Amino acid sequence: MSDSTVSKRLDGKVVIITGGASGIGEATAHLFANNGPRVVVIADIQDELGQHVATSIGLHRCSYIHCDVTDEEQVKSMVDHTVQTYGRLDIMFSNAGTVNSTNQAVLELSLPAFDHLFAVNVHGMAACVKHAARAMVDGGVKGSIVCTASLAASIGSRKGTNYCMSKHAVLGLVRSASRQLGEYGIRVNCVSPSGLGTPLLCKAYQMEPEEVEKLYEPFTSLKGVGLKVNHVADAVLFLASDESAFVTGHDLLVHGGYHPQ
Ligand SMILES: NC(=O)c1ccc[n+]([C@@H]2O[C@H](COP(=O)([O-])OP(=O)(O)OC[C@H]3O[C@@H](n4cnc5c(N)ncnc54)[C@H](O)[C@@H]3O)[C@@H](O)[C@H]2O)c1
Repeated sequence: MSDSTVSKRLDGKVVIITGGASGIGEATAHLFANNGPRVVVIADIQDELGQHVATSIGLHRCSYIHCDVTDEEQVKSMVDHTVQTYGRLDIMFSNAGTVNSTNQAVLELSLPAFDHLFAVNVHGMAACVKHAARAMVDGGVKGSIVCTASLAASIGSRKGTNYCMSKHAVLGLVRSASRQLGEYGIRVNCVSPSGLGTPLLCKAYQMEPEEVEKLYEPFTSLKGVGLKVNHVADAVLFLASDESAFVTGHDLLVHGGYHPQ
């Protein structure tokens, strides 16, 4: 889309996207950038990829910053840097997440792997929501915070016990933060996709993206369409923008009518 035809659903907004170097975060960074923000700040640990995404979007409206969300100090300085550089923070898309490559069924649960995953998916998510909310409250900004949860936040899992637990925790965070931050006009919601072929799942399942898509097909009511990153990005844009101005504490499922067989 050329600059002359961009839509303005995020007109002038200052946005942070964690995990923006790849997959859902990368697709959302591109979609957001085409909707008129002042800037999209991508935060990730994959520096080369993140820098590449920022450059491909255009450094006049996108920048990259290294931030490991497991380290609260790095999260705080990433938010502080954004506010100091661009004057405010309007939107936080807290999306960075990970899975274990091991099975993680209860009988085989590796607790060190459990802890690492929780450090990213739960501790990291909480740190991002906390520091984004503080910046919004301090700046008097009625902002929007969107977290990436998962279909795994609402159902039990045959394996990946700690991943499932971590996404249930994200739901608890969103529900609590939305109640606490409502008095400041700050909205907190999450988006919950079913499985899709991003590097995260392709690596964990040792599959190509199309194979991941096929895996979920039998459980999806909608036929003839597989879940893609742009479907998730569209849902995030809705929650981030003023179009969802009276929506908070909501878990927006993006799963094509998933039903366990
Ligand atoms: N792919 C799926 O099927 C699926 C389904 C539901 C939810 N999700 C969630 O979507 C989110 C995005 O995942 P994705 O599927 O786009 O995968 P992805 O691997 O393509 O993207 C995840 C990004 O998070 C970054 N990241 C990981 N650990 C980090 C850390 N400590 N600090 C900062 N950044 C870190 C990675 O470098 C990567 O760029 C995750 O929260 C994931 O749990 C994915």
